[in-house]
Parts: sequence; structure tokens; C-alpha cells
Amino acid sequence: MADSNSAQQAVAPINQEPKPIEVIAQSLLRLPQLVKIHQPNNKLFQENLFVFREALNTLWEETPEIVLRAHRGRMFINNQKYTPTGSMVVTIQKLLEYFEKRLFFGLRLIKKEALTDEDIVAFIRTLNQCQNHKNPAEWLDKALADSWVKLIIDSDFKITYIFSGDGQGESKGRPLIWNSGSRTLALKARKSYSRAMAAVTDLQDNLKEGGNVSLAKPRRVVQDMVESLFQEERLLLNLSTLRDYDDYTCTHSVNVAILSMCLGKRLGLSKVAVVALGLSGLFHDLGKVDVPIELIRKTTRFTPEEYEEVKNHSLYSVSRILQINADHKLKSKLIQAPFEHHLGIDLTGYPASNDHMPLSLFGRIVAIADHYDALTSSRSYRPIPMNPEQALDIMMGISGSILDPLLLKVFINMVGIYPIGTLLVLDTKEIAIVAETPPEAIDARPLAYLLDRDDNTIIKGEQINLSDADAYGNFFRNILRCFHPSDFGINASDILL
Ligand SMILES: [Fe+2]
Ligand SMILES: [Fe+2]
Repeated sequence: MADSNSAQQAVAPINQEPKPIEVIAQSLLRLPQLVKIHQPNNKLFQENLFVFREALNTLWEETPEIVLRAHRGRMFINNQKYTPTGSMVVTIQKLLEYFEKRLFFGLRLIKKEALTDEDIVAFIRTLNQCQNHKNPAEWLDKALADSWVKLIIDSDFKITYIFSGDGQGESKGRPLIWNSGSRTLALKARKSYSRAMAAVTDLQDNLKEGGNVSLAKPRRVVQDMVESLFQEERLLLNLSTLRDYDDYTCTHSVNVAILSMCLGKRLGLSKVAVVALGLSGLFHDLGKVDVPIELIRKTTRFTPEEYEEVKNHSLYSVSRILQINADHKLKSKLIQAPFEHHLGIDLTGYPASNDHMPLSLFGRIVAIADHYDALTSSRSYRPIPMNPEQALDIMMGISGSILDPLLLKVFINMVGIYPIGTLLVLDTKEIAIVAETPPEAIDARPLAYLLDRDDNTIIKGEQINLSDADAYGNFFRNILRCFHPSDFGINASDILL
């Protein structure tokens, strides 16, 4: 089954020394709290000031200015999109919210020779004071006029699509992806996505620490996603297929939740049912926190004993869900899909079961979403992910035995043969990237951008419609082959978003 080796996920190593930029992001959240409760001579406070200063000095050796900028719900560090992993997902999310609440877009930390504790404390205190003002950003901008920190208050920011080279090229053209919905809806969908990432990370951390785990946060983010989904399905679906984050464990859970919810909505489930379905998708692999980390990181084949242990994750997921603080009735709904997602409709999978009832609807849906996301993601044992066509081909091969054939048909219709971000090689010798497939497209022929090169930067070129044909119905362009963008070392979201 697609997920049989899925314990071999890319998980951030535990106790790894944080990078300077991670220390800076964490300090920007921690120091404003510490300064409120401690005197500057407090040991803990001084230690935190020290690590912040060290991190700044390290980065200032490379660049005279460290720029942290929020843009469309993502963090950009010195003009490049920052992709957080592990606990940094939560830190960055909180920092983005911190900026947003205070109505600014970021900070420029300008190199200061012999930066002192006093310089840092003065900045942090000013930062704290801005909350008392009606327009915190306006006040803060003036208050920091002579500081080594400058505020970014303009939203005008052009993403540099870096493929290789010096990254000086700027984006050209408009982001077509967002045409299918309003900018506000798009931002909302993106926010929901990163909040879901943060909720999963939080939940996993709390479970590992044996803390009190509540359903409130994951439920809120899933409800948010369902709202976006019922307003504009493609936005969320696109985020899931663009695979914009590096952390496999989290993206996989969030993507499986989104793909399941989209399929649930297509099947006509109510909003309440789609929320429950989303939660069970989000939690389907929760039990992997109980599988030994060496197995999770293993890149070679499992021994039979190891594989038996990995297979236990379905049951572990069930017992972890039962530990969550939530209504029993809801929990009994949420455990179905995690228990069944590797069982197969012919019940030949795992956990081995002699007298299992036919798979539940949630189990069938989550199994399809799980297969698709696992096959189209890069994994430690398969760095090159399959393109959607190959993945759907494999899934068709197990239709009727492992996957529900009817639901699979609806799913294929939903994701399309050429999901957003797919690279297309055309018979005109051009290469294009799929931007969207409108419902009225002929034979699922998508809208796409030709890829162009501007110096060393790959950029969006002309927008094309592969359904365009001459008066005799001959298409101007035909698709010869399709590839996953990573086959070409391209991150689709860098080009399209
Ligand atoms: Fe699984
Ligand atoms: Fe999975």
C-alpha cells in the first residue's frame, strides 16, 4: 500500500541546534514577554538576550540587514520565502499573527556594531508599548526612527522567483491561481492552511509530552477550512496539491484532511459531517508519534519485525484520539478512518481483522486521500515524487480491491489529471505550468503559464489555454508529457503564488 513505508518520513531531528534565524524569530516572541516580568539583570532574561544578540551577530556577518517580512500569510527572510519545519511552524505562525495584530508587515534588523543589551531592551520595550496606541504601526514606526530596528509598514512587496542564480529577477505577470476566488478568500485559505499545520504540530508535541490535549484548536482550524471550502473549493484544493511546506508529517496530515474534505463536499456531505471528516483526516496518522523515531527516519527497507511495528500506527492513532479531550460520540466518529485507512475495501490490509464490517465512508475517503498524497509527495526513500498521472494510474490499479471505485472516480474528477503546479511538455517544445483547470475545459485541458527564463530565474511567461483550437477544432498546443515540478527542481508555489 502507498503508505506502507510511510513511517519513513522527514522529521526534524530532535535537539538539533536552532539556526540563527530560528533563534531570532523565537526571541522576537519571547523577549517581549520576559521584559514584562524580569529586571534586566535577571539570569534567564540575560541568557535570552545573549542568544538573541549572538544570532544577530552571526547573521550580520553575512548581511548587513536581516529582513523579516510577512507576505500573504508566509514569512520571507531577506526576500526569500522561509519554509518552517517542526516547532518553527508554530513560531512563525505566531510571529505572523504578532505582526498582523500590530498592523505592520515586518522588521528590518540593521547591523549595529557592538550591539548592547540596552539597545535590545529599548527596542523590545518600545515594541511592547505600541499596543497601547490606536495605530500601533504608525506609532512604532516613529518611535523606532533612531533605532537599529526599522518597521516595514508597506505591503508592497514583489516576490523574487528564484530558480538559480542571484535572485535579483522580479515576478512578472499576475498570479493566475487566485483568479478563481477573491484575494481575501485566497488569504483566508492560506491562513487556514498554516494554522492547520501549527495545530497538528502542537497536538503532536502535546501528545509526546503527555500533556492535556484538547480538540478545540484543531476543530477551529478545520471549521475555518470548511468555511473556505464551501465558499471556494479550488483554493484549498490548490494549496494541498502545491505542497508548499517541507515538513512531510504535517503537510501530509493537512493535505489528507483537505483532500478528504473536498471529496466529502463533492459527495454532498453536510458541513458538520465534513468537519468530522476533516478531523479524522488530520488525525489519521497521529499514532506515528508512538512509532520509534529510528523507524520513522529509516530510509532503507523495513525488516519484517519493523514493518509489523510500523503497521501498528493505525491502532496507535485510535488510542491517541481516544486520549483527546472531546465528546465520546464525536471521538467514536473520528477513530473510524484512522483505524481503516490501510485496511482496503477487501479488508486484506492492516490492522488484520477477521470479522470487520465493510469500510465506513470516512475510511474509504481518507484511504484515497492518503494514497494520493503519499504517492505525489517526495519521501526520504523516494526523493522524486510521482506526477499526478502516475499516482492516479497506480490508484486505478487497486480500484475495487483496496480503493472504492466509485469514490475514486469522483476523486480523479476533482483533482484533475493535471492538477495545479504540474509541469507540461508541449508539442510546441514549450514547457508550461498548470495554473488551473476550469470546469468547462475540453478533455480537462488546463489553463497554464509558459515557463520563461529571465537571466537565471524561471518566471511565468505567457498565459495559455490548452483548450484553444483553430476553426477546425485542431488544438494549438498538445500535451506530450507531464512531470512533477520537483523533477525539474522547481517549487511550483514559488512560480504561481
Ligand atoms: Fe497511515
Ligand atoms: Fe498517511
